Amino acid sequence: MSKKVFKQSHLLGIEHLSVDEIELILETADSFVEVSTRDIKKVPALKGKTVVNLFFESSTRTRSSFEIAAKRLSADLINFNASVSSLKKGESLKDTVLTLEAMNPHIIVIRHSASGSPKYLTTFARSSIVNAGDGFHAHPTQALLDALTIKQHFNTLRGLKIAIVGDILHSRVARSNLVLHRKMENEIALIGPPSLVPREFEAMGAKVYHNLKKGVEGADIVMMLRVQQERGASNYFPSIREYRKLYEITPEVFSLAKPSAILMHPGPMNRDVEIDTTLADSDKSVILEQVTNGIAVRMAVLYLLLPKLRG
Ligand code: CP
Repeated sequence: MSKKVFKQSHLLGIEHLSVDEIELILETADSFVEVSTRDIKKVPALKGKTVVNLFFESSTRTRSSFEIAAKRLSADLINFNASVSSLKKGESLKDTVLTLEAMNPHIIVIRHSASGSPKYLTTFARSSIVNAGDGFHAHPTQALLDALTIKQHFNTLRGLKIAIVGDILHSRVARSNLVLHRKMENEIALIGPPSLVPREFEAMGAKVYHNLKKGVEGADIVMMLRVQQERGASNYFPSIREYRKLYEITPEVFSLAKPSAILMHPGPMNRDVEIDTTLADSDKSVILEQVTNGIAVRMAVLYLLLPKLRG
């Protein structure tokens, strides 16, 4: 029986979690992995509770897996659709959330382009707030599902070298993984062009490389990131052709990592830009395992918030 305690009322970022709390989320997720193998993939833990999925940015994986997670825990779920909401009539974020709050939900899962928006909601909302990605700041459940995937492959979350490659500047996934793996005292290599991976990241405890082969050498995990064209990332290097030549992970470059190394990508991928398509589909790739683990990790987060939920 684990003595670890989850003290949080919200999940805003990995920086707020202790190592014990991270481990507790992953242990709880392990038990929900088992639930997802049953014929009836449902437990009553959140029966009578309401979860609102409030997504202001596009999402395939995070939004669907929070929905499946809530339903597998027997919660009621509202999928808020920003594009057909009263936001279109000029209603503010605060009034939108206050309106939804008046319907007494218990958990609000929010994705928003503004860094800090989940924390802003905690200043006036009574629901527990879960960050599903805010601007460049954080994507805590992505880092947690990545950690679960890593633990399943290496049976540990310590003593690993993790190479994170690509558009680090715009990546909330990179930041959340960096914070999590510094807490686990892992070695982190951040790799990409100087414009997308400035040396300032070394202050966060990572080593910065502008040469892909040098950074990937000896890695246990190679985590590729998407070039975020919607955030203007392609203005930070001369051309996609040039970027691909220098920073695409190919079977040849991947072979410089350890023989046991795994290839990760949070998705969505730009195939044959940052990741060679045959490698993405190879047995080295755990990209779809990451997606599957997203359900168990999000079930664990929703479940662990239960004692702190409003009445
Ligand atoms: N990894 C991730 O956040 O994917 P989605 O944008 O599809 O949710």
